[in-house]
Amino acid sequence: NEIYFAGLTGRVPTMPMVYADLEARAAQALPPSVLSYVAGGAGDEATQRGNVDAFARWGLMPRMFVGAKERDLSVDLFGFKLASPLFMAPVGVVGICTQDGHGDLATARAAARTGVPMVASTLSADPLDQVAGEFGETPGFFQLYTPTDRELAASLVQRAEAAGFKGIVVTLDTWVTGWRPRDLTTANFPQLRGHCLANYFTDPVFLRLLGKAPEEDPMAAVGLWAQLFGNALTWDDLPWLRSLTSLPLIVKGIQHPDDARRAIDGGVDGIYCSNHGGRQANGGLPALDCLAGVVDASGDTPVLFDSGVRSGADIVKALALGARAVGVGRPYVWGLALGGVDGAVHVLRSLLAEADLIMAVDGYPTPADLTRESLRRVG
Ligand code: FNR
Repeated sequence: NEIYFAGLTGRVPTMPMVYADLEARAAQALPPSVLSYVAGGAGDEATQRGNVDAFARWGLMPRMFVGAKERDLSVDLFGFKLASPLFMAPVGVVGICTQDGHGDLATARAAARTGVPMVASTLSADPLDQVAGEFGETPGFFQLYTPTDRELAASLVQRAEAAGFKGIVVTLDTWVTGWRPRDLTTANFPQLRGHCLANYFTDPVFLRLLGKAPEEDPMAAVGLWAQLFGNALTWDDLPWLRSLTSLPLIVKGIQHPDDARRAIDGGVDGIYCSNHGGRQANGGLPALDCLAGVVDASGDTPVLFDSGVRSGADIVKALALGARAVGVGRPYVWGLALGGVDGAVHVLRSLLAEADLIMAVDGYPTPADLTRESLRRVG
């Protein structure tokens, strides 16, 4: 309504209203190496495209005479009442996409303004206590890339807890970086910029292992980070992971129902169905095609979903397939790149406005009203 009424007085939004325009505008605004880092995926990016295309194979069946005049998009997640089922997926090194380099703080401020939670990446340019300080009333989650050193892993989690994060998301599919041709051909590989590793460079365990201040020897600091970065976890590590925190523990990167079942048996509180936006392994299934199986295997355990969500319609479809909350990665990053906090807020509010209007027109007033019965296969 805000936008329609402004339109009556001749004011039209300056920010793009659909994903394709958003991406195209951001592509013009960002330096080529940053653009490749965000836009790129694994291999020839077939899985990345497949993630997006999968949504078009489902259509919503509208119901009439429902009178869905009032909608309530709120959902319960780990004891929190979220204003909507949308969240911002973790994006490492997001600072390089913003004018001032403080992309994590900007994301946290967008979370505070919209009520859309942020999952802050381990690979952040802004220290996690500062990021958590910006959340306001919106709960925030911390994403862990589990380092090979267990003491360092525990320290990162404890610091996140102390900073006020409300849950820990452990990413399982990125202990090694995928084959990403666009990144491989980018000379200045962004992840290796020392200033993007604030969470490590301020960690007491990391500093002890380094034995000196990171500013004294930045190459040694980045080298140690690279050496410690990725732990190829096995099921034997799950009890230890569980023991790291009493906060909700969520595992990210689950696509097989058996993995969901086993993780739940191991005590996790949430399953995060995702293929990392097609950035890690090409030749995979669209994440959306794995969602229903993961939901069925997860029983009452909430399932979070991301990978390929580009519109409000996509959010509604993922909810209908059983996701409790739906994440976006690249869309809000383009918003940050184009307009900082305001840009991210615009993207999130536009996604939610579209989802809300679809639920109004199609007669599904709450996320709980959306079920698989609300969808039909197209074609
Ligand atoms: C990511 N993603 C990611 N995931 C994670 O667990 N930790 C991280 O640090 C990052 N970093 C990251 C950087 C960039 C530039 C992108 C685009 C993505 C994956 C992210 O959380 C999410 O799974 C995908 O982005 C979802 O797909 P869409 O929405 O981008 O299609």
